[in-house]
Amino acid sequence: MFVFSSSVRRVSLLGIAIALQAFSPLRAAEPEANQLAPLESARSEPRQVARHATGMVTAAHPLASEAGVEILQAGGNAIDAAIATALAISVLEPYSAGIGGGGFLLVYDADSREVRSLDFRERAPIAATRDMYLDANGEATDKSRTGHLAVAVPGTVAGLYEAHREYGELDWETVVQPAIELAASGFPVSERFARSVNWRAERLFANPAARDAFSRDGEQYELGDRLVQPDLAATLTRIAADPDDFYRGETARAIAADMAEFGGLLTVEDLEQYEPIWRDPVCGYFQPADERFEICAMAPPSSGGVHLLQMLQLLEPLGWASLDPGQRRHLTIEAMKIAYADRAEYLGDPDFVDVPTEALLSPDYLDARRAEIEPDRARSAEEVQPANPQFLSNLRPESPETSHLTVVDRDRNAVSLTFTVNGGFGAGVVAAGTGIVLNNEMDDFAIAPGVPNIYGLIGSEANAIAARKTPLSSMTPTIVTDGAGNLRLAVGSPGGSTIITTVFQVTLEVLARDLDVAAALAAPRVHHQWQPDRLRLEESFNPAIVRALENLGHDPTVRGRWGNANAIEVVPATNPSDETELVGAVDPRGAGAASGY
Ligand code: GLY
Repeated sequence: MFVFSSSVRRVSLLGIAIALQAFSPLRAAEPEANQLAPLESARSEPRQVARHATGMVTAAHPLASEAGVEILQAGGNAIDAAIATALAISVLEPYSAGIGGGGFLLVYDADSREVRSLDFRERAPIAATRDMYLDANGEATDKSRTGHLAVAVPGTVAGLYEAHREYGELDWETVVQPAIELAASGFPVSERFARSVNWRAERLFANPAARDAFSRDGEQYELGDRLVQPDLAATLTRIAADPDDFYRGETARAIAADMAEFGGLLTVEDLEQYEPIWRDPVCGYFQPADERFEICAMAPPSSGGVHLLQMLQLLEPLGWASLDPGQRRHLTIEAMKIAYADRAEYLGDPDFVDVPTEALLSPDYLDARRAEIEPDRARSAEEVQPANPQFLSNLRPESPETSHLTVVDRDRNAVSLTFTVNGGFGAGVVAAGTGIVLNNEMDDFAIAPGVPNIYGLIGSEANAIAARKTPLSSMTPTIVTDGAGNLRLAVGSPGGSTIITTVFQVTLEVLARDLDVAAALAAPRVHHQWQPDRLRLEESFNPAIVRALENLGHDPTVRGRWGNANAIEVVPATNPSDETELVGAVDPRGAGAASGY
């Protein structure tokens, strides 16, 4: 079905022996979690884990997964189903991702056994300037986060249509149809939906179109109320007939008029000039034991692929899987600090700055960085790289932004797609008459050196604002193949700056510890992003592990849980008439579903 032309950049890791004995000797495994409930609930809750022979979709909302499966059963392939699922998410969870935002997708072609990636991330408007979010005193304002000035040129519709143009089997109208029905007929408001509106109500209800779309005259919808989005249904109907309507037609004119009325920069010219970009994914090998996997993930302008591979390859020679749980987390955290320090300095849009991807993944460089890691002591951020005195700690413990979906079809083609409007409900505005929630992706640029974005991430010149430039992302849609090039795992997550570390830990647990995807998704997580110099541990950790980390000099904040990952793995079939079957799971921290047939 799929035909690929792009070359794939591979970064092989030579097996470099590292003195494993420098790390603590093996100890009897301790339970990972404080209590078994999270693991048990992931296994026993039917909608969170599924096993199917033919095709599967995992997504953040059960009705979105169902929309994708409906398309698979109608003869669609993984791309068709991913488009239907993504558009359904745009209707069901517009606070997380949608047609007013952008994203990245990876596709795996079971025939050629290659992976290709599509960048449909938002771009800065033509009128954007480097210091546009600084006031007269050079201080950062909140205009990169809230209101029309925060909006970057959306890429979702162009990206999904481009993927369909290349690979779709069903008609475009057919794959858009489930989203139109959800918007026109409505759906019951979920707890996540009600919570997201409540969290952003002040801003949302100050914008007349957003107030109309997401309240009854300013009164919030409650759990179970039916939400119908007639403007969005009409927009999707126009897009089904002609996707270019978003960039050159009635929808484009409506967005531009709204921008002009409320002081945004985005114009019809910006929309007309938008183009998604096929990019080589960043790929590298990971050999935790006998088996060698190839991991492909999103290359810049996402930082996800580079740093996922950096962290995996930093750990690879250290015998990570056989260490005790505290030591495993210690090494995981120290690898995170190195990766996020590099992120702040070197990562940006490769069409504007020279991103040293190959150097950051070269074995010599990683050997040197690995040698810095101390097995028995946590290093401060300052020791990893000079600390930035201006950083502010803004990381929110939990947030509903961004959405990931994973699809595997009957031929074992796969799509791993992460998309977003950035913060919850994006810029907090809806373009009047369209029902479209507009992103605040401009905040993913470095507003000024050392000024953190909503995830507390800082950046440098590499991620400074420029016209038409793409803001740096952490989204990490990932596809893993085995030694023979067969699909093994597709995975991704929302979560802002925690996306990369979440995908890193899920991938490690599946590939290095051989956990099934449900257990890997349920496992407690750690997060460190170098700056702010703060270690976060999920509250479900066994206190013994927390103590072990404290004894190594870590100073953890144990609070909350984060991420809403999902994944599908290909495993040998239990039914002798099938060669393989699919095991899919969604994050027990979310309310998604793994559906299939
Ligand atoms: N907006 C979050 C990200 O792209 O990383």
